[in-house]
Amino acid sequence: MKRPTKIKKILIVDFGSQFTQLIARRIRELGVFSEIISHKGLKIVNQNELYGVIFSGGPLNVYQDKKIELNKKIFNLECPILGICFGHQMISKYYGGKVKSSKTREFGFARIKKIKNSPLTQNFFNKKNTNDVWMSHADHVTKIPKTFKKIASTKDSKFTIIENIKLKRFGVQFHPEVTHTIKGNTLLKNFLFKICKAKRNWSLKHQKNTLINRVKNQIGKEKVICALSGGVDSSVVAQLLNKSVGKQLKCIFVNTGLLRKNEEKQVVDTFKKKLKINLIYVNAEKQFLGRLKNISDPEKKRKIIGNLFIKIFERYAKKIKNVKFLAQGTLYPDLIESKSVTGSQTSKIKSHHNVGGLPKKMKLKLVEPLRLLFKDEVRKLGLELKLSKQIISRHPFPGPGLAIRMPGIITKEKIKILKEADNYFISELKQENLYDKIWQAYAALLPVKTVGVMGDNRTYEYICLLRAITSSDGMTADYFDFSKKFMQKVSNKIINNIQGINRVVYDVTSKPPSTIELE
Ligand code: XMP
Repeated sequence: MKRPTKIKKILIVDFGSQFTQLIARRIRELGVFSEIISHKGLKIVNQNELYGVIFSGGPLNVYQDKKIELNKKIFNLECPILGICFGHQMISKYYGGKVKSSKTREFGFARIKKIKNSPLTQNFFNKKNTNDVWMSHADHVTKIPKTFKKIASTKDSKFTIIENIKLKRFGVQFHPEVTHTIKGNTLLKNFLFKICKAKRNWSLKHQKNTLINRVKNQIGKEKVICALSGGVDSSVVAQLLNKSVGKQLKCIFVNTGLLRKNEEKQVVDTFKKKLKINLIYVNAEKQFLGRLKNISDPEKKRKIIGNLFIKIFERYAKKIKNVKFLAQGTLYPDLIESKSVTGSQTSKIKSHHNVGGLPKKMKLKLVEPLRLLFKDEVRKLGLELKLSKQIISRHPFPGPGLAIRMPGIITKEKIKILKEADNYFISELKQENLYDKIWQAYAALLPVKTVGVMGDNRTYEYICLLRAITSSDGMTADYFDFSKKFMQKVSNKIINNIQGINRVVYDVTSKPPSTIELE
């Protein structure tokens, strides 16, 4: 298992909760560094590197010992431990309490009532000594360890908050990390600053300089290359490298011919002209479209694009002599061990191609300066590095580009139509101040022609599908609810201005069951 980093931190032991990353983000937002580590094979880290430990929730039952595989030595640590939901049950069981499946599940809001004061709950309860919190559990603690005190309860579970001040052990049955829990942040703040006595050691202003220095130290006088897509992550990496080892940096930007309208021009203008980054622009449109000719299978499209991208990237990278490093925009969520707690494998849905794809054969050392950051932190860092808000707040765009927004075969004519439609849609979103409220939006071209009537003439043209979703991480998503007026305006603009489309439809599926992209 990877050893955690050495900044003093709150260690979050993950038991498979869907909210584990949220806990880590909340702690960081409060100014303290946090790291997630899987409960499986957990090695105990140096006490001096820890302010405290948080056990996450999870889908297991505390009596399924074999699956839990927690190194019990963690309970010997002298630093404070806070258990959340399943973590609360683990702490209770370890110190001699009892946990049972309850007849009534507590799911959603629950009102908790204060029983006793605790440093954990200062300013947490309202004047009536209650608070509304968010629960999601079936099992509950039926008996607390002898040395523990109960701090709060609900109608259905007697031990909603428990503590042992001397041992510095705390447990909460609810989720303080979700926004539905009122003053959940107050409880976490109390844990960090009153109980763990943590110091604020995490801000992106401070991180900017740390990262610049770290990259300088890692790369020394060597040369480094970076695949730039113009998306948020690769843009921030490129600018960070530019600020630290600018002269030794070469960025490679490959135009696949499947980018959004004028995207290649914008990337070259921003990075080469404005930011003065050493940029190699490769126009590989012909090669990509040649290889994709008559291909309609989505997985084949993805593979062709991914492989060709790496080949081209390698070819150009080889032309730059004596390169030792390859920079990538790997983020923290990509690195967190995602071993499933229950042992089940999630089936492959789509093979993702990232523009920072690994040319393994090149034997380059990796530079991954964003590897400890979440996406929202990368955005903040980008602003600190003086990248424009326009780049930082861009919606995600997939590596295979418009190829997967055009089911069926890919033709130049279709690409031209799609670029225009997408541009009208996105421009309207920006004009109506909707762009930043939406996580991702795009137009797609369906491989179906339908009959329409324009003026007195019959038309027979493609269907344009619009998709706009809200999401926090792209794993789940809901469709955005536009007004009829907005939809009419966009539909009219597209049909009136683009020859080749005579019908516009809006995708109203969430993810799951659909995915965000069409292929
Ligand atoms: P899906 O369609 O899987 O998309 O729901 C989830 C998010 O991932 C993006 N996406 C990709 N990004 N390479 C990428 O870099 C890919 O091959 C790829 N496929 C999908 C998609 O745009 C959405 O934001």
